[in-house]
Amino acid sequence: MGREYISLPARLHTDKASGLDLITMSDTAHAERSTSGLNKSDLLRLVADIDAALPRVHRYAPATPILRLPSLDALINGQVMLKAECVQATGSFKIRGALNVMMQLSLGGADRVIAFSSGNHGIGVAYAAQCLGMTATIVVPHDAPVAKIERIRRLGGDIVSYDRLSEDREQVASALQDKSPAPLVKPYDDWQTIAGQGTCGAEVILQVPEGIDAAIICTGGGGLAAGIGTYLRSRSLKTRILTAEPNGWHDHHLSFQSGTRVRAPGDGAQWCDGLLALTPGKLTFSINQANQAEGLCVSNEHVATAMRTVWQCLGVRLEPSGAVALGALLSQPELFHGQRVLVTLTGGNVDERRFSECLTLAG
Ligand SMILES: Cc1ncc(COP(=O)(O)O)c(C=O)c1O
Repeated sequence: MGREYISLPARLHTDKASGLDLITMSDTAHAERSTSGLNKSDLLRLVADIDAALPRVHRYAPATPILRLPSLDALINGQVMLKAECVQATGSFKIRGALNVMMQLSLGGADRVIAFSSGNHGIGVAYAAQCLGMTATIVVPHDAPVAKIERIRRLGGDIVSYDRLSEDREQVASALQDKSPAPLVKPYDDWQTIAGQGTCGAEVILQVPEGIDAAIICTGGGGLAAGIGTYLRSRSLKTRILTAEPNGWHDHHLSFQSGTRVRAPGDGAQWCDGLLALTPGKLTFSINQANQAEGLCVSNEHVATAMRTVWQCLGVRLEPSGAVALGALLSQPELFHGQRVLVTLTGGNVDERRFSECLTLAG
């Protein structure tokens, strides 16, 4: 994979110090080994952009809590840190990337944006548009959960539906742009979106100063994993980054194994509607590869058990996509024995019927 594979942005301003001084010189071996086409200075630039994104994001989306469950600690004989992105005002972490991108667009004079989304990114964009006095048109699959579509509508987003099976959402969005030009806010494969999602990792560093041994991240296109992974590893290269995906949609798992972007079979159940990307993003994959991420695959049963555990023990509702990381921990606890593990709970926007189905499956 050559360098032309990745499109990096022109340097944008940052107003805070990066993690540069926290990375030891012995880490250069890692950068030289990387097959991703990204080098250490690219990753440090992302860390600086995440630092710059943090005050933008916190202006409208305060830090989310880390929840703890003694039973999970006992399961791995370690410490499990549940990062509760499901309690964001938009019900998912996607507000982070949307705010980071759109605050900069707004400063540049834009008053309207277009986005395509499986749901949660659309909610984030609609919310950011409301905060910033912009308008947003969101291209959403017609079979997206009603809870997500309604939330976008309530936030004042204009919805354009498309058929997931016969239409390409990027083409639908670009046809809209042709008719009425407006910047596109990408859901994951964009530097500033990734920097926004990375603010979740920046919060974790403040909340868990002792450090994280392994981070399990619910993954679709790979933006959240890229952002969190880069930030955590800027503090310690010992931190392992693990993407969690539903069986059948495990394109990251397959791609990490083969060292190049590979298509998932796409033959699993579609409960995790936010994680149905068939291939990793180009930029996100390069970053995740540079961070030596590994991929975990999760069954529906473990996703359902994760949802039930969080609901029964903490009274917090997760959508299936937001429960995959915990499902991965529950299915392979031996991988994390004795460690301090970050588990992302990425979203809570779930229809009542799907939620009950999951609790029933969990038994
Ligand atoms: C709840 C939830 N978790 C995780 C993801 C995956 O995020 P990414 O595409 O950045 O990997 C999504 C994407 O929409 C999501 O909605």
